[in-house]
Amino acid sequence: MTFRFESGAVSFQPVLQERTLHELIELARQAREYARAPYSEFKVGAVVECADGRIFTGCNIENSSYGSTLCAEQVALAKAISEGARDFTRLAVIADTDVPIPPCGTCRQVIFELCGGELEVVMANLSGQLETKTAADLLPAPFDQSFL
Ligand code: THU
Repeated sequence: MTFRFESGAVSFQPVLQERTLHELIELARQAREYARAPYSEFKVGAVVECADGRIFTGCNIENSSYGSTLCAEQVALAKAISEGARDFTRLAVIADTDVPIPPCGTCRQVIFELCGGELEVVMANLSGQLETKTAADLLPAPFDQSFL
């Protein structure tokens, strides 16, 4: 986490330096390198950023019992939630795709539930293409706690 300190007349006020979009995507790209994808050979990286500046990365983790596979976005979010993070600002996901990778349906549900509809989801590919949508754009008619 990077802090910039500005001196005031009375006190020092720490100001959280914003992480650039490029930096966020780079973190997802690095996380992708750790992907365990022996079956599909399709590597995915993700990163979720918290309001306090913390970041949590994830990669897909495949399993020979295919349904036990974990998506990169869900790994990043499980790491974040299990470390006490609750307030998220952006989530980035990257893969080696022709167009920026859209999160799968299950990930859209999980992202919407844990981060809310306002979250910015940055979709990227290794060629440097980007697309940003909100979680609500990606899941326009959500099933959520209001139905329970
Ligand atoms: N995958 C993700 O990690 N995130 C997505 O949103 C789409 C799919 C992974 C799961 C599996 O390991 C591989 O990509 C192929 O489906």
